Amino acid sequence: MTTSNDEDAEVAYTFIIHTGSNLPDQKSTKKWDDGTMILKINPGSDTTESKDLRVKDHFPTMTEGDVRIDLWLPSVIGVPKLLKVDLESNMLEIIKDALYIREITIIYNRASYRFPIKNYLYPHSPVHNPTEPKMGCPPHILVREGAGTLRHRETEDFIVRARDEDRAIMQSMIKWNDAEVNSAGLLFPGYLGVMDYDKLPRILKFREATLDNFMELRSSGRKEVKINMLQNMGGKVFGTYKEERFESFEQFYLYLKYKGDELGWDKEIVYEAMKVAKIFRQDEEFGRQILSGCNAWMIKKVISLEVRWAAGTVPMYTLEGKSVEQVLEEGRLFEVSYDDLIDIPHGGGLSKMLTGTSQTWYTVLADCLLYQRDDGKLVPILIRLENRNDGEPETWWSPPEPENTDLNHPAHLAWLWAKMWFKCAEASCNFVITHFARAHATSEIFAVAVYRTLPNAHPIFRLLQPHIIGVIPINVQGRAVLINPNKNAFACVVSAGDHLGKVFHNHFKNFSYENLILPDDVKKRGVEDIPEYLLRDDFLAHWAIIQEYVEEIVNLTYLSDADVAKDEELQNLFKEIVDFGFRGFPNGAGFPRVVSDRYKLTEYLTAIIVNISTFHAAANFQVLTSCGFVPNMPSCLSIPPPKQHDNITMELIVESLPVREIAFLALNIVYVLGQFSPIDCFFLEDAAANKRGIIGENMIVAPEQEACIHRLVEKMRQLKEKIDARNDGRYLKYDVLSPVNIPLATAT
Ligand SMILES: [Fe+2]
Repeated sequence: MTTSNDEDAEVAYTFIIHTGSNLPDQKSTKKWDDGTMILKINPGSDTTESKDLRVKDHFPTMTEGDVRIDLWLPSVIGVPKLLKVDLESNMLEIIKDALYIREITIIYNRASYRFPIKNYLYPHSPVHNPTEPKMGCPPHILVREGAGTLRHRETEDFIVRARDEDRAIMQSMIKWNDAEVNSAGLLFPGYLGVMDYDKLPRILKFREATLDNFMELRSSGRKEVKINMLQNMGGKVFGTYKEERFESFEQFYLYLKYKGDELGWDKEIVYEAMKVAKIFRQDEEFGRQILSGCNAWMIKKVISLEVRWAAGTVPMYTLEGKSVEQVLEEGRLFEVSYDDLIDIPHGGGLSKMLTGTSQTWYTVLADCLLYQRDDGKLVPILIRLENRNDGEPETWWSPPEPENTDLNHPAHLAWLWAKMWFKCAEASCNFVITHFARAHATSEIFAVAVYRTLPNAHPIFRLLQPHIIGVIPINVQGRAVLINPNKNAFACVVSAGDHLGKVFHNHFKNFSYENLILPDDVKKRGVEDIPEYLLRDDFLAHWAIIQEYVEEIVNLTYLSDADVAKDEELQNLFKEIVDFGFRGFPNGAGFPRVVSDRYKLTEYLTAIIVNISTFHAAANFQVLTSCGFVPNMPSCLSIPPPKQHDNITMELIVESLPVREIAFLALNIVYVLGQFSPIDCFFLEDAAANKRGIIGENMIVAPEQEACIHRLVEKMRQLKEKIDARNDGRYLKYDVLSPVNIPLATAT
């Protein structure tokens, strides 16, 4: 049947409004009932705009759920291309909360039109509908349907206007810091210009209700520290103070187990560190950690023994009877150096407050020369230490002769202590540089720039969204305890922590975009062929899978290279990265201001995603395995490093190690940071372990894009199987880069 006037005809529209966030360990039936949702299809269109559609239902919050409504709407509206979402509070409502909206699906003419949102809205007053952000939320949300589009391909003005409005709103909410980044002459990347977590836009806050357990864990550690400090102060006043020192390695071992039990730490994680304790003196274990520990990015092939190694001597007995020239020629010598500690003074400035006594935590330059044995194992053969701060000459340390099997012999103890000094330098570099500077600070640039330049409608925003979420808020929280000299968490545990600005500068002055391209970096370091370099193997596998996924999305988005060059929003992303993110860095730290082809774009986006996810995971989630048993990787050492002919005793070594308060602080920090956040999603879900995967937790909704994600997940599944098989039977399993263990975002 036809009506007399088809324009007056009505057709069915079904709306499925998905709200709330799902957390496997949360059970809630809570509903958001602070107001009315107002929807409008094709807002701003002269011909296809709908009227306001008011939805008064109560929406699931805290956990995922949906509200479904059916409406008759004029057929002239046609296909829903753009959706405006607004919330209006109930009259007289005083206490209101924002609502997390995941997606709205419209079913029209038996087809689904999906509008991914992943944002919060705050209900405005019925008498005042703002056009500016309020309570950290945009005044309303304008969302483009489906795969998203490029601005220059849009043909309808109302859609372009909505896109520009969306971007302008985000730019008004998310701003770079105003201060000159390098005002003190020290390089540091740009970051969000908000210092107070409470003042963050709602989209950047953790979903607070989900974090109770996590925060409880943090605060129980903090309480203990406070009690220690009060006890110390009281002890000083009443003359009963006694610094609590460990007297043997065994006590460190038992302390880890006892503290872990007392604080309810995950025994699986503690046990890994206890396993390390049993073998940490073996040179093979030292070599394993160089290749697969929490800072295993530094090793490179030695091509010359001049300069750095010129004054050292490699004992023949460490080279299985070969000469040093021969093994150098065979490409079996490698080195690790921690030059970022050059010019960094000693630390320990907070030690009196923390422990009751003033201590010096020695910042010592450390280099290690390693040899790849005939059996493929990598072992240290020469360590160079230099206490430059005190004007001391460099010292050289090697393994004792093989016939010396007495582990208590001074030669063994000297070698052990030299390795500990090297690992102490590594701890400073891991905490401050690899984890914070390289992973967190660098990733924040990308997050801020993406939020500011790419509207929700941009397919590349939708690609990056599950990754950029998280890093800004954790960094804002981090900065609150890093830049305050009396609260600097790093300065409480590592020697380099007293001088963060200088350490960051040392790192960033040598940083370039090329460092992010890990496959090239591996080649540049000449470490493609070292056996058992598990970090490299797993990392390159991830890189390849993520690159293929990004390439597929890029090719779906851009039909040609010219299409990339034409995309002004994308070009602005790179301009912001260079002009604000790497402001003051020579040549924008190697980032381009213009991107003109799909191949390079794929590489840039891969580098960004990998740095936020895989790199951060490798740097962060196994630190307790290394540091849990303190003698394996002491966070600081409080006795001067050995002079060349000192007689090294076990008493001296144990005395140099952190006292109880500092050991506890270091353990607590690395344990808490090493916990997955309740909001984490992973490349691969693990339902049995309550871990969510990327599927359903992203903004990619078009079928052809979803197929890319499914292929990504399938490859990740295969990689997990490969890693599981490789780990079978190993004393220490290397699974930090298993896809079930890599959060998509940097959130801890
Ligand atoms: Fe982290």
